[in-house]
Amino acid sequence: MAQIEIVRGDLTHQSVDAIVNAANESLLGGGGVDGAIHRAAGPELLRQCASIGGCSTGQAVITQGYELAAKFVIHTVGPVWHGGHHDEPELLASCYQTTLALARKHQCATVAYPAISCGVFGYPLDRAAQTALATVKDACKGHELPELVRWVLFDELAYESWKAALAVLNRA
Ligand code: AR6
Repeated sequence: MAQIEIVRGDLTHQSVDAIVNAANESLLGGGGVDGAIHRAAGPELLRQCASIGGCSTGQAVITQGYELAAKFVIHTVGPVWHGGHHDEPELLASCYQTTLALARKHQCATVAYPAISCGVFGYPLDRAAQTALATVKDACKGHELPELVRWVLFDELAYESWKAALAVLNRA
């Protein structure tokens, strides 16, 4: 069972086996954490992403980390929030499940996540935090890898939402 950590900070500075990117279906970069990851990793990352040819919402692909401290970047596409009745929770859960499965397949012991879908895609922080934490806790049961899952929250509001959701989960 993985240790779960939440910290405030910049995902691109993490020295872990894999960081997860909140990408879009084109995999060709964008704003937010996606833009920050591409800037920090350098142009080789975009070349590899372009060769993959895209990724569906809820799915994930893996690339090298290039100039990042992380060995791998696992790119996933979170759902755009449309009010909560368009499979958003299932698709967000799928992002965490598919990224964890890829991390495990590539022997990653340490994985760091952003708040997938909580920026441009508009997912409410409290709901995203509950789904993210419950899904990862469940998906790590009975597995040795990863040993550590860390959320790196860029802003105070996201950090507070994750902290509250983790407290609820730990009491359950
Ligand atoms: N480290 C950690 N978290 C960050 C960083 C960073 N360096 N920069 C931003 N965040 P977003 P989404 C937080 O918009 O909602 C892109 O254009 C941010 O504060 O990056 O899944 C893609 O190409 C927020 O809490 O991702 C897609 O088109 C969280 O990361 C689209 O945005 C996610 O915000 C994806 O939207």
